[in-house]
Amino acid sequence: MSDYATLTYDGNTYEFPVITGSEGEKAIDISTMRAKSGIITMDYGFSSTGSCSSTITFMNGEKGILRYRGIPVEQLAEHATFKETAYLLINGRLPNRKELTRFSVMLNDHSLVHEDMQEFYKSFPRISHPMGILSSMVNALRSFYPELEKTDEEINITMTRLLSKIRTMAAMAYKISRGHKLVYPRPDLNYCANFLNMMFDSPVRPYDIDEDLVQALRVFWILHADHEQNCSTTAVRVVGSGRVNLYAAISAGIAALWGPLHGGANQAVIEMLSEIVRDGGKVQKVIERAKDRNDPFRLFGFGHRVYKTYDPRGQIIKKMADRLLEKRQVSDPLLDTAKELEIAARKDDYFIENNLYPNVDFYSGIVLRSIGIPTNMFTVMFAIGRLPGWISQWKESIDDSNWKITRPRQIYTGPTCTDYTPLDKRP
Ligand code: CMC
Repeated sequence: MSDYATLTYDGNTYEFPVITGSEGEKAIDISTMRAKSGIITMDYGFSSTGSCSSTITFMNGEKGILRYRGIPVEQLAEHATFKETAYLLINGRLPNRKELTRFSVMLNDHSLVHEDMQEFYKSFPRISHPMGILSSMVNALRSFYPELEKTDEEINITMTRLLSKIRTMAAMAYKISRGHKLVYPRPDLNYCANFLNMMFDSPVRPYDIDEDLVQALRVFWILHADHEQNCSTTAVRVVGSGRVNLYAAISAGIAALWGPLHGGANQAVIEMLSEIVRDGGKVQKVIERAKDRNDPFRLFGFGHRVYKTYDPRGQIIKKMADRLLEKRQVSDPLLDTAKELEIAARKDDYFIENNLYPNVDFYSGIVLRSIGIPTNMFTVMFAIGRLPGWISQWKESIDDSNWKITRPRQIYTGPTCTDYTPLDKRP
């Protein structure tokens, strides 16, 4: 097979190299196309465009494969801690015992948030969405911790600081939104338990750490830890390409994740399921609405740009939701409705023809509800989980010798050259 592709246009032929990834995927490198031929490519939503080569995450949407640094996500969900997974993504391999201890110490050392930041939190109106608050506060970290990101050690501290502080900041946002006293991080607790304690401990009702809930959160965060060049990760890389600081790039990623077609889908799913339950359980009505091309409504938690089969994360989370509710001997009408909706959608020709299967967000909200997380914090939970991925993608991009500032082209379709009309001559 040739390792170049040819393009023939207007009587001229151009050659472009073909790149092959370690799992055999191919890309035609058209970076020189405009310089050689004067034309550009057009690809709405970047469905057929690669923006980088990466050693972090491998996905195969046809086979439902997801691996971080080569390790199947199923194995990480079964055996790893979230801390190990974060280390793996950022550093490219699992830590040994000594490295893991050092990483834990650093996470503990950086877990406090500057007391002055509380004033910002208190100034947000009560109705503010926690994702807007989190995005602003992460950006504000640069003013409180203005260290440079020049040496490897400085970059390491900045990345660890962010990983540690994000959970303190998220829990702070929740406590302040409720008008409750803040709970500080505890170095004796692991990453997940520490977060739950900061969220739910209170002077009137001390939080009893439940290992089942800690494990559920661990799996939830591992499953969300990276997903290659999705919308928010692309935002982090694009904003980072201007060589902005890490906090600003991550803040852009949080803003991108907020949307209901991306990370905001977990909140949208619960709202949709609650609406179905309120409406007497009419799942078919929702399916008909999602199929109506004149209605912008979509079946939230279904479909994916890359997965054309069941999202492997969705399968793990569905089983976990079942196990968790069974073990706690509680039932959730939203889980029953979700299962009914899944069965009905997967029998429907529209969903079959368009390869629309449940994605990670379809059942994840049920798990978060069982943990006690309020619905408006769901996307924040996704953001905390995705942070190691964003950081590793940002780091890879700044170290990439092929990296350039992101600056796509366009095809202009507006008016051709038009003279300025003075105000008194305008119709
Ligand atoms: N409900 C109804 N129709 C859908 C849905 C859905 N959930 N998803 C896709 N379609 C339609 C889509 O409109 C298109 O129809 P047409 O050809 O008439 O334009 C057809 O199915 C094929 O869509 P696609 O090209 O596979 O979808 P996409 O790549 O443009 O969009 C998506 C991917 C995730 C934005 C979309 O599936 C969606 O809006 N899903 C609902 C929101 C959601 O659950 N998002 C979370 C994604 S997983 C978490 C994450 O990583 O962000």
